[in-house]
Amino acid sequence: MELIRAMEERRSTRAFLDRPVEREKLKRLLQLATQAPSAINLQPWEITVVSGEERERLSRLLVKRMRERNISCAPGAKDPLPEVFLERQRGLLDVLLPNLPAQSSFEDFINEGSCNFYGAPSAIIIAIDEVFSSVRLTDIGILLGYLVLAAHAMGLGTCPIGLITAFEDDIREVLSIPDQKHVVIGVGVGYPDPDAPINRSRSERVPLGKVVKWRG
Ligand SMILES: Cc1cc2nc3c(=O)[nH]c(=O)nc-3n(C[C@H](O)[C@H](O)[C@H](O)COP(=O)(O)O)c2cc1C
Repeated sequence: MELIRAMEERRSTRAFLDRPVEREKLKRLLQLATQAPSAINLQPWEITVVSGEERERLSRLLVKRMRERNISCAPGAKDPLPEVFLERQRGLLDVLLPNLPAQSSFEDFINEGSCNFYGAPSAIIIAIDEVFSSVRLTDIGILLGYLVLAAHAMGLGTCPIGLITAFEDDIREVLSIPDQKHVVIGVGVGYPDPDAPINRSRSERVPLGKVVKWRG
């Protein structure tokens, strides 16, 4: 698939088919994602792929912890969000709400769904060694960008899951990730369910004029 088309088409997938992703396909996806540039070619990412029963076991623990600690998807901001960002958050709500599965509250759908990687057969957990400062998170971000686009071009759906970082200790323990690695992001990966209304939700982007300043 042409890159520009993939960039225009891709949106997060929040309902997956009950069909495992072939190991060779996951390998190809990771080969493509790890072509991402990184500062001084450090490639600071450490990737764990967890599939099938293992992924379900991890999710059961994450859902349990989420309920115990009453954690939910949050913007990760130090202070209350200014109106300009709240408006964008409401925009996402507006496109997801009409397509929620019957009898789900938005909160439950997002929080439990995130811990469940929305039922994706595989989850990709991306970590970084504590030796790196937060500036290296840029490198993880670009890896994530490559990953979601390559997945889309390969007919796979993805949903990045930041919520799981709240349960970093549990994830490290279950997946035997050493203590000096920080979990930065998880990504649910699988074949999108074409009949699920939620997958038809298309979040919008603000016009360039609101985020770009031109000088000269
Ligand atoms: C770093 C990051 C963390 C995210 N965490 C979550 C999450 O925990 N749960 C979720 O449902 N979506 C999560 N998302 C998906 C965003 O909600 C989504 O990318 C955004 O609304 C734009 O929609 P789109 O991906 O469909 O274009 C995350 C995305 C990013 C980039």
